[in-house]
Amino acid sequence: MRSQTNTDRLRNATRDIHSRLESTEYAAAVMNGTIGIEPYVGYLRVLAVLHGTLESALVGVFHPVTKNVWKDELRRSRELAQDLDYFRMRLIPDAPAAIRTALDTAAELRRLSVDNPVALVGAIYVLYGSSKGAAVIRSRLNSNCGVNSSRGASYFTRHGGEGTREWQETSHRIDSSEIDESGIEAAIETAKLVLQCVHDAFLASHPVDHSALRYTATTLSPDSGDHPVPQDPAVLRVVLHTTDRVLTDYPYILYRYGDRGRRFTDADGGWLVTLPELGEASMAGQLDWLRTVLSSRGVPHILVARHLQLLADELSSTAYDRAYLPLLSGAAERIYRSVDERVPPELRMQQQSVLYRSLGPGSGDPRGDMRCRETAELIASAVVDRDLGVEDAVDAVVGCLADRNRSSDTWVDSVLDTVRVFQTS
Ligand code: HEM
Repeated sequence: MRSQTNTDRLRNATRDIHSRLESTEYAAAVMNGTIGIEPYVGYLRVLAVLHGTLESALVGVFHPVTKNVWKDELRRSRELAQDLDYFRMRLIPDAPAAIRTALDTAAELRRLSVDNPVALVGAIYVLYGSSKGAAVIRSRLNSNCGVNSSRGASYFTRHGGEGTREWQETSHRIDSSEIDESGIEAAIETAKLVLQCVHDAFLASHPVDHSALRYTATTLSPDSGDHPVPQDPAVLRVVLHTTDRVLTDYPYILYRYGDRGRRFTDADGGWLVTLPELGEASMAGQLDWLRTVLSSRGVPHILVARHLQLLADELSSTAYDRAYLPLLSGAAERIYRSVDERVPPELRMQQQSVLYRSLGPGSGDPRGDMRCRETAELIASAVVDRDLGVEDAVDAVVGCLADRNRSSDTWVDSVLDTVRVFQTS
């Protein structure tokens, strides 16, 4: 008798959960064309959390089996993000229990990527084996919630289309890998965990309990984990609008981080407007913490100042508590002041001119002025952040601003000159 392949074992072990998943009211509603927009988007968010976590965890995994099974072209985060961006302005709230199970499962995947990376083969099995069901779901989507490949359904278009071929190839790699008994058992446990997560998310999402729906950090960005966000949609609309203004003032964010930078700015904005509820002292503590997190990743604190200032300006037209507005603008002021004291505005202007000259007369960059102002401010703020203990703040921002692969040597030299001038000022 033919012995069982690795995927046979995974399939047999998860058959029961899959049958329960297919018998949920969620699955029935997908099949008969009555699933609503909240459960549909909710599922995309659950998948975005799981895929985002798995894909970034796999970058650091060197286990031979997991490395052999995983291929970068299997990534799905891009399609999921594109679909969620399509729904951005509609501010569709979440079923919190669905998001909770996704975040808990994501935390376990992160743990496994360090403690027992072969177990991640189980997550790959579920998330890519699901292309068989996705082919069925894809054919029902138009009748469901009016989405199509370019409008909110690029994930299902890919996953239920070429995804089925990719799954065949992936399943061959899983079957040709030599996985010892403890490895396959770990993979089975992970497959059950992920499938159970999706099952529980289905139960939590449909039928929709409108009274339980809430905005979460995942509503704004699936990569932002769990933090408070406001519940008033008018305030959230201002948060999204403010993100667009911050990105207009500082194109660096999009230049460096792409659309992911916009999503993070949305989620950060949601969090920032909740901070005044903590009171001034705790708010200041949280902002100091944010400085260390963001500045070491290339986002100097002056960007947070601009964000806070614009939020304070824009929120005055909403029902947001007026007493909180001065706390937002006051926090922005303190950050600006710390930069001005360390690197005075005149010195920044002087270096801005040096930077401008380095663009050259024929640079043809219509946004040259803005680029030079932004660069001088980011470097000045990073210098302050470093003084305040964020050791790699300057390197983190200069690595991108002075990249010889993306900018001319003259530009890079004047960026480095600006760093020297500000550091010694
Ligand atoms: C309406 C919901 C769904 C339907 C109708 C559905 C349908 C199917 C079908 C027809 C198969 C092929 C069975 C076979 O070849 O014997 C399948 C397999 C599978 N589905 Fe689903 N599915 C659904 C949801 C999901 C979800 C949400 C996931 C996980 C995210 C999932 C994961 C899997 C896996 C892992 C397999 C097995 C792949 C393999 O072993 O080759 N399914 N599904």
